Amino acid sequence: ATRSYEYIQVSEPRPGVGQVTLNRPKALNALSTPLITELNTALRTFQSSPSISAIVLTGSERAFAAGADIKEMAPLTFSQAYTTSFIESWSDLTTALKKPLIAAVSGHALGGGCELALMADILYCTRTANFGQPEIKLGTIPGAGGSQRLTRAVGKAKAMELVLTGKSFSGEEAEKWGVAARVFEGYGELMEGALGTAETIAGYSRVAVQAAKEVVNRSQELGLRDGVEYERRVFHGLFGSRDQKIGMEAFAGKKKAEWSHE
Ligand code: HXC
Repeated sequence: ATRSYEYIQVSEPRPGVGQVTLNRPKALNALSTPLITELNTALRTFQSSPSISAIVLTGSERAFAAGADIKEMAPLTFSQAYTTSFIESWSDLTTALKKPLIAAVSGHALGGGCELALMADILYCTRTANFGQPEIKLGTIPGAGGSQRLTRAVGKAKAMELVLTGKSFSGEEAEKWGVAARVFEGYGELMEGALGTAETIAGYSRVAVQAAKEVVNRSQELGLRDGVEYERRVFHGLFGSRDQKIGMEAFAGKKKAEWSHE
């Protein structure tokens, strides 16, 4: 990952852990199309790298991302948005990435920034993080899944109020409402927590980790009966992996598992 980027930074801060830092500070990490293109490239590079098992996505202490780039969107016509499938490439994040993605959110996560954070597999934030879907104030609506993912996360009552008023909510509320898995006091603790969790995940079998992410995500699409059946099929499938044997034999032999990732 020695590629050079203009709007993001890429690093490998821990064994098995890739990090993408949104780095467009003058625009509070506004998510322009070139930035999203770089993000997709970086995530695909991590996806295909055998040395990376989990990924942390963060911004700065002041802003995770203050939204899609309003200056880029302002002059866009319907036909331009429609024929270029504007925003559709953001979904690469959820379709192309099979490795777990942890969003570490500090400061503003507004509009598309909130939606980007909601696409992550695990969301951690600071107590004072500032989430919201303020699109209504701009004469538009969420366009990167906010109305769907936020509603699944917090329920219709709160989501409707948030999307219709554009009011923001804090990191503390995000944790209380189940949007964030954990909340941290400051940016340092947040990054320590996110990288620590990524490192923990990176210590497991990549085959099992990919399967675990896949089945939890399927719960968002399927009814309970189909979801449970899908889970069982994948669970059965893992009896065909070497790592299932390695993991269970290590337990029986009171040894640490040395994963083959096969
Ligand atoms: C482009 C942005 C931006 C954005 C901030 N900036 N947000 N540029 N797109 N989304 C720029 C400002 O224009 C300014 O540039 C610089 O970043 C610093 O911002 P300030 O406003 O001066 O900072 P501050 O006073 O601290 O206020 C922070 C803020 C405010 C509350 C986050 O910037 C703000 O309200 N931003 C817009 C938030 C928003 O509406 N997001 C939703 C966008 S719509 P200059 O050049 O003046 O210094 C959206 C659609 C999603 O996301 C649907 C598809 C994904």
